[in-house]
Amino acid sequence: MKVSVIGTGYVGLVTGACLAEMGNDVLCLDVDPNKIRILEEGGIPIHEPGLDAVVARNVKAGRLAFTTDIARSVAHGTLQFIAVGTPPDEDGSADLQYVLAAARNIGRLMSDYKVVVDKSTVPVGTADKVRAAIADELAQRGSDARFAVVSNPEFLKEGAAVDDFMRPDRIIVGAEDEQAILLMRALYAPFNRNHDKVHVMDVRSAELTKYAANAMLATRISFMNELALLAEKMGADIEQVRQGIGSDPRIGYHFLYAGCGYGGSCFPKDVKALIQTAAQNGQQLKVLQAVEDANDAQKLVLVDKIVRRFGEDLSGKRFAVWGLAFKPNTDDMREATSRVVLAELFKRGASVTAYDPVAMDEARRIFGDEPRLTYADSPSGALDGADALVIVTEWKEFRSPDFERIKASLKTPVVFDGRNLYEPSLVQSFGLDYQAIGRGA
Ligand code: NAD
Ligand code: UGA
Repeated sequence: MKVSVIGTGYVGLVTGACLAEMGNDVLCLDVDPNKIRILEEGGIPIHEPGLDAVVARNVKAGRLAFTTDIARSVAHGTLQFIAVGTPPDEDGSADLQYVLAAARNIGRLMSDYKVVVDKSTVPVGTADKVRAAIADELAQRGSDARFAVVSNPEFLKEGAAVDDFMRPDRIIVGAEDEQAILLMRALYAPFNRNHDKVHVMDVRSAELTKYAANAMLATRISFMNELALLAEKMGADIEQVRQGIGSDPRIGYHFLYAGCGYGGSCFPKDVKALIQTAAQNGQQLKVLQAVEDANDAQKLVLVDKIVRRFGEDLSGKRFAVWGLAFKPNTDDMREATSRVVLAELFKRGASVTAYDPVAMDEARRIFGDEPRLTYADSPSGALDGADALVIVTEWKEFRSPDFERIKASLKTPVVFDGRNLYEPSLVQSFGLDYQAIGRGA
């Protein structure tokens, strides 16, 4: 099938590459000439495990190409995927300007039947706006070209994006147009392994499904984070509690890890957007508001612990920080807890030596020439002469450190672990004070 993907970011590039892998003829469009240049030169603008091989293989096979030429992209695909950003507006609602600009481009330039697929995360009712924008463009030039609008939200996780796309739990297709449903079913047929993963539903339910999924996952995390704070007060261990409740299949083990708050380009923004959608429709989502408030507070938990140990005035102190990305296996620092931790430490006069396996370039871009921030080229390099160690992201390479070395390098033998990487008694056996999240026992 001929597919155009509008927006070649995380979702667009993964979608384009994986659809090409299944034999489709894919053209990826972006308005950012720099991104397209990197891709045309054989590079990948993001860090995503396994993506470079899929892209290279399909470019070589002639099934995947990149362009900044909007007319070429509109002419190419019968299926036009919109995978542009939907960042938060000032009030937290999703900003639809990029989605609607993409829709207008399609309406302005299309001449035959198109299925316009909303892959971006968009609030309920957006398909109607996309339809209206295209219809308006067609009307302006007196065209009667036919089109359908489909909602096909994406559930991939950064760091595991290729695998998630190639082996989806479910494929949500919100559509009413029969021909569009047939085309979407055919496109996704190769992804149905043992059973049909495609759930066809009405467009509004599909749009809401995406927000409901992210809101549910964020709720689990905030709930566990609150319980972790209670566990600390009560001398209980949240990790034991996680295993105790996770064994109930109605709860399950996944996504129950307490930590120093959720970040990333999606949970924070989607939780806000759903709260706004509800408010605009006269409903208060009290549970979800609490989820957001708890997460904002949770991002400060490490700093609270540091202040309790070292006092409010941290001038002259230097902290080793392991992990800057919002989660492992990505260089993405959007809404990362590390940003809050660093800003709060700087505010109190401290300096930081940070190490992250892939996100340090991104940190340099974000923090510029911040004089209090230096970088180390290894985890142990960050430790030397630091007052304490602070762990913010659970990269695999932090999992089995040399505790003797940590003890010997730090001025104060204390580890603040925002991701509960170690068995407390093991760390303590090296003479280190171990301050993790909810491990009070
Ligand atoms: P991104 O910022 O990485 O990529 C968006 C791209 O769209 C950018 O490269 C931008 O230059 C381009 N763009 C903007 N306007 C354009 C236009 N009119 N024409 C062509 N290109 C245009 O964003 P992302 O992380 O891929 O997210 C895209 C959407 O997918 C968002 O709605 C997000 O919520 C959703 N989503 C993201 C993830 C994720 O893990 N990142 C997962 C599921 C869903
Ligand atoms: C999330 C969802 O998991 C995807 O299904 C969804 O498609 C995506 O958002 C999206 O809509 O963009 P992602 O943000 O890439 O994916 O990463 P997650 O693995 O979900 O982690 C999000 C945050 O939650 C991270 O900061 C992580 O550290 C935190 N987290 C996760 C916890 O604190 N505890 C957990 O148990 C799991």
